[in-house]
Amino acid sequence: MSVTPHKPAKRVTVHTLEEMKQRGEKISMLTAYDYSLAKIVDDANIDVILVGDSASNVMAGHETTLPITLDQMIYHASSVIRAVKRALVVVDLPFGSYQGNSKEALLSSIRIMKESGAHAIKLEGGEEVLESIKRIISAGVPVMGHLGLTPQSIYKFGTYAVRAVEKEEADKLIKDALLMQDAGCFAIVLEKIPADLAERVTAMLKIPVIGIGAGAGVDGQVLVLHDMLGINKDFSPRFMRRYLNLYESIKGSIEHYIEDVKSQDFPNQNEQY
Ligand code: KIV
Repeated sequence: MSVTPHKPAKRVTVHTLEEMKQRGEKISMLTAYDYSLAKIVDDANIDVILVGDSASNVMAGHETTLPITLDQMIYHASSVIRAVKRALVVVDLPFGSYQGNSKEALLSSIRIMKESGAHAIKLEGGEEVLESIKRIISAGVPVMGHLGLTPQSIYKFGTYAVRAVEKEEADKLIKDALLMQDAGCFAIVLEKIPADLAERVTAMLKIPVIGIGAGAGVDGQVLVLHDMLGINKDFSPRFMRRYLNLYESIKGSIEHYIEDVKSQDFPNQNEQY
């Protein structure tokens, strides 16, 4: 009897994403912040895992993404990296770790790459962070941009409403996207902007555009894992599709367990030594 040799999964790289855009294959991306869920996401064959600073909200319970630190991002990223065999793992530079100057941005990126083993970093902003983007890329670290609604600037925006609705902001977004491509970014996330604008930007760029709340005319989609699995039951913006209602399933299972303990149904004869 012949045994089929185990074939290791072919890793997704930044070049894989570029090729996917060229042949019109959509890119799938989800967040993950810990070993166990990252393993499931990777085993399901996701293309990109984002260790997002949304960990600040969904893992730590903060109201915004601002409080999470570089050390905490490295902790989450290392846990994810230990689980992943196939996906490209991108890690957010957290607020305050890159806005100071390009040297600070480079040093923060190097810490993420060295201490977690991640494959790329993501940062928010356009022209303002261009020098940092160039310096990080020149050190050999792939950079993903993030335009539109950039949650680290929430106190400047004052609201999580749709961005770039007005022409002036839309024009700046287009200019920023082109600058980021020229600077060498391998992809850009567009968050919560009108679908027709996202489609125009996607058509203009050679690099992949991944949308969240940016419609269907982009090269791929990203969602926060805890939102799409329904672990967070209180967050349901229009763009978010919920694939599970894990909050209710988990709560129900825990209630069942409590009942079993109280009624002495658990453990039974087979569940003890
Ligand atoms: O931190 C995050 O989860 C993100 C996505 C929303 C794109 O940046």
